[in-house]
Amino acid sequence: MTSAVWPTRLVDGDVLLRPMKLRDQRTWREVNLRNRDWLRPWEATVPPPGPAGPVARRPTYRQMVRHLRAEAGAGRMFPFVIEYRGRLAGQLTVAGITWGSMCSAHIGYWVDAAVAGRGVMPTAVALAVDHCFRTAGLHRVEVCIRPENGPSRRVVEKLGFRQEGLRPRYLHIDGDWRDHLVFALTVEDVPEGLLTRWHRSRSGLEYK
Ligand SMILES: CC(C)(COP(=O)(O)OP(=O)(O)OC[C@H]1O[C@@H](n2cnc3c(N)ncnc32)[C@H](O)[C@@H]1OP(=O)(O)O)[C@@H](O)C(=O)NCCC(=O)NCCS
Repeated sequence: MTSAVWPTRLVDGDVLLRPMKLRDQRTWREVNLRNRDWLRPWEATVPPPGPAGPVARRPTYRQMVRHLRAEAGAGRMFPFVIEYRGRLAGQLTVAGITWGSMCSAHIGYWVDAAVAGRGVMPTAVALAVDHCFRTAGLHRVEVCIRPENGPSRRVVEKLGFRQEGLRPRYLHIDGDWRDHLVFALTVEDVPEGLLTRWHRSRSGLEYK
């Protein structure tokens, strides 16, 4: 992978996306601990093992960072942390990157409840989507969201993602298999770039 694609830093105003570092451990733990109840309903969990399956153990922070780095190095992931006004405030992961005839990926995200409602995530998603389309050369990006997650649905609605349908029992979240709505963009949907479109719609909303 070329160095422009990964590792990289993407900035817009107060929002910065950058790779996770080993020395983020203390802050990352503090933010995660403080947001445990806020994140639990939306967080991926590991289903119980089948009769012959291995017991999944929660990785240590170091193991997680090493895994994310290896996946990024293999071209399968862009694992960003989000900084807002210079403080670690969440994560955005472009995962499941598939090349060949598909050139597609999906995005997962969360922010610290303390900064929710300021448009941090739409800005972060717009930066990541533009990176996927314009720098990495992907064709399609999707976000899968539980129907009951109103705030997350607002993020993709505000960015103009297309709702494509429902995947029943798609992901193991908060202890069970949960239905997800699929939202997607292809590069043809955003000829001017998603960040430009987000800024335009935001100023339109603000000055109406
Ligand atoms: C979904 C999430 C990432 C949105 O991030 P964000 O930076 O707050 O996004 P926005 O500022 O655009 O706000 C989105 C919506 O959240 C709601 N919201 C606003 N302030 C809020 C607050 N303090 N607390 C909760 N929700 C709030 C509003 O409905 C807002 O939509 P609006 O702009 O039409 O009013 C964030 O709520 C979050 O991390 N939630 C927990 C984890 C999660 O759901 N991850 C996504 C799984 S698919």
